[in-house]
Order: sequence, then structure tokens, then C-alpha cells
Amino acid sequence: MQQKKRPVLTDEFIAAVAHEIRNPLSSVKMNLQVFSRSLAAMSSGKEVSIPNLQEHLRVALKSLEHLERIVNDIMDVSRPEVLEFASESMADVIEASLLLAENDLAVKGVRVVKNIGALPKVEVDARRMEQALLNIFLNGIHAMKKGGRLMINAGERDGIVSIVIEDDGKGMPPEVLSRVFEPFFTTSPEGTGLGLTLTKRLIEQEDGTISIESELGKGTRVTVMLPCRRKRRAADDDNGHEKDTDNR
Ligand SMILES: Nc1ncnc2c1ncn2[C@@H]1O[C@H](COP(=O)(O)OP(=O)(O)O)[C@@H](O)[C@H]1O
Ligand SMILES: [Mg+2]
Repeated sequence: MQQKKRPVLTDEFIAAVAHEIRNPLSSVKMNLQVFSRSLAAMSSGKEVSIPNLQEHLRVALKSLEHLERIVNDIMDVSRPEVLEFASESMADVIEASLLLAENDLAVKGVRVVKNIGALPKVEVDARRMEQALLNIFLNGIHAMKKGGRLMINAGERDGIVSIVIEDDGKGMPPEVLSRVFEPFFTTSPEGTGLGLTLTKRLIEQEDGTISIESELGKGTRVTVMLPCRRKRRAADDDNGHEKDTDNR
């Protein structure tokens, strides 16, 4: 079954995008300007430090890479999606997302401890669900020191599959925890702050929920709940404008 969704970009989101892009953009501009002035000085016979020139290029490149991450994440958040719902084994979806995290797990030397019970099939868009779980896994992996433990527990009760992802990483204070789903909220210089925004959206499009508990210095627990069968919506049959139905 296919369902088309139209993204809704609010004025607030667009303003936030401009704000996020402005700093790295002016860093690129400033560093290239200095680079260009130094080259001009060099060609008129002045002595110029090559390591300084290299540093300006390095910073410009780093800012460009950050801009690239922002643009890629925004495209993920705003892409008009055709959702492909099919009956999928959640255990396979979890394994596939772990495979996508393989490199980060290896680099960080993080051990995965899985406890996945017999799971029924769930009506989901598997690729999008994998992306949502991957974002959660990566956050956990990045919050841990080398040799941390990522625990994944999954089970089913009353037609709801729950997937609980726990890390024993740095955790979050309440003022961070309360903002994690805000677009562009990040505490990492390399982060875009769009990971959990996207993840929440993906899970809610599957009629699921996500909640996060965390304790500073101890770790974080993310709980994803997904109904095995999607609730039917009037919108499933029409042109993609979502309407809420009474059963929500
Ligand atoms: N498992 C976790 N442990 C500690 N902090 C986390 C965890 N998951 C999310 N966070 C916090 O939430 C912020 C937002 O996460 P996210 O939306 O994925 O953006 P990003 O990963 O780009 O920072 C992170 O910068 C971090 O401060
Ligand atoms: Mg993230």
C-alpha cells in the first residue's frame, strides 16, 4: 500500500534553517577571503606562512562539510515521501539498522547486547524504520566512551511491539532532554540536531510513539512502540492530506 505525504515546512523551520546555515557559510567566506588575500600578497613578493594558508582551507572545508550534513538532513526531513507499508519482521528491521551502524560500532568498540523475543510482523515502511532506529543507535553510540554497551530489548504485548534501546553513555540533564526533539537542537559540534526530529516524524508516520528517559552520567533509554497493524485513516485512500480519525 502506498501513501503520499506532503511535508509542511513552517516559517519557524525555514528561519531556523537560515540561522543554522549562516555561521558555517560566513566561516567559508571569511577563510577563503583571507586565503585569497594571502595569495595576492604572496604574488607581490611578500612572505606568507603556508601552514596558515592550509589552516584557512581546512576550516573552510570543515564548514562546508557541516553545511553538507545540514542540507542532507533537511532533505530527509522535508522530502515528499511515498510510504511503502508492508508486513515486515521487526527482528529483520532491527538487524538491518544494526548493520548500518556497524562502522560506528566498530570505531567506538561498542558491544551490542540484544534480547529480541519472538516478534510478530509489523506493517511498516522498513527502509524508513531502519533509518529511525539507526539515528537512535548512532546517538547512543556517540554518547558512549570506547567499550560502551548498547542494549536492545524488543518484545510484543497486546498487538504493540516495543523496542527499547539503552546506552550506558553520558546521559542528559533535564534541560537537554526536554529539547532533544527540537529541530537543530544539538550539543555536538558535528551534529545537525535533525536526527531525532526526523526519527520522531518517521515513527509517528508509522502510528508509533517514541519516548526518552535519561540520567546524567548514567545513560539513556529510548522506547519505541509500534502497533502491529496500522490504524486505518481516511487519508489512506485519498490524495495524501492527513485527516485524523476518531480512533486515534
Ligand atoms: N543517547 C543519547 N545520549 C546522550 N545524549 C543524547 C542521546 N540522544 C540524543 N542526545 C542529545 O540530543 C541531541 C539531539 O540529538 P539529534 O536530534 O540526534 O541531533 P545530533 O545527533 O545531530 O546532535 C544530541 O546533540 C544530544 O545532546
Ligand atoms: Mg543524532
